[in-house]
Amino acid sequence: MKIEEIEAQDLNPQRFIEEKITEISSIAGNGLAVNALSGGVDSSAVTILGHRALGERLKTYFIDHGLMREDEPQRIVPLFKELGVPVELVDSRAEFFNALKGMTDPEEKREAITQAFYKDVFSRLVKESGAGYLLQGTNYTDIEETVAGVKRQHNILEQLGIDTQKQYGYKLIEPLIQLRKPAVREIAKTLELPEEIYNRPPFPGPALAARIIGEVTQERVETVRKATQIVEQALSDTGAFQYLAILHEDKVTGVRDGKRDYGLQIEVRCWDSEDAKTGSPTRVGYDILEKLAERITTEVPGVVSVTYNVTKKPPSTIEAV
Ligand code: XMP
Repeated sequence: MKIEEIEAQDLNPQRFIEEKITEISSIAGNGLAVNALSGGVDSSAVTILGHRALGERLKTYFIDHGLMREDEPQRIVPLFKELGVPVELVDSRAEFFNALKGMTDPEEKREAITQAFYKDVFSRLVKESGAGYLLQGTNYTDIEETVAGVKRQHNILEQLGIDTQKQYGYKLIEPLIQLRKPAVREIAKTLELPEEIYNRPPFPGPALAARIIGEVTQERVETVRKATQIVEQALSDTGAFQYLAILHEDKVTGVRDGKRDYGLQIEVRCWDSEDAKTGSPTRVGYDILEKLAERITTEVPGVVSVTYNVTKKPPSTIEAV
């Protein structure tokens, strides 16, 4: 890999920020740029860097692809407005669900999401706004896994030999590409983002689709969304690196009110990790897990089985897809 990592202990956040602001301004010149904010630490840091560099010449969008967690747009858009960053909400739900229709293969689903983002939605936003650049928060771990062929991270293009100017009509600016998560958090903190942003557990670009085994339909997203909300409420106090709910494709036989109930399976994962490169399952207390299973099977329609994954990464990965 040609890109050189800057490790957290070697990072001077203030200097890095100043350098990146200068770099973004000089690349964009007098041109316009767009960026997509998801509310994760990477895209949030990039949004602030971009605004400091370009001011009103950067237009920030929040893409609602329908794969979000509960209330995400309602939470993130006003938070940035308070920080002085106007964000336009774009309803792209139909585009993403159409792109994913009938697909079950993990890498095909990832590719469909990448194309929906870059070829459809971003190309259109770039064209409409007259921008020449897309600013995005790709980090070092994203490229590493994609280039190694572990899984295609949704935001990796140039490292796979894709000429974004030719294929999509815009160039990429990726200020965080040399950093892993702990270093990105330092940058976000130094940029004075609130703690709820700079300390947020990671969340994948393909969002809940990375946690659905089999076809991604609105109904199945709704199931995993409800389970995710419960898992996040129950496990946030563990201080774990990341915690998630996965919806399985296979059904299992359950029993409810004395009758057979052939229902859904949710798998819970909770990870201890520094940077997502490796991880091990958090030793969550049994009482917490038991309550979690009780809540998911009573509050999420159709679920009759909840399991806790005790595998390390590797050989597991953090997400299921
Ligand atoms: P895996 O599942 O590969 O995840 O062990 C490593 C870290 O990356 C996140 N992840 C993604 N992030 N786009 C992203 O921006 C993606 O396509 C993607 N896939 C996984 C995952 O949540 C974990 O923190």
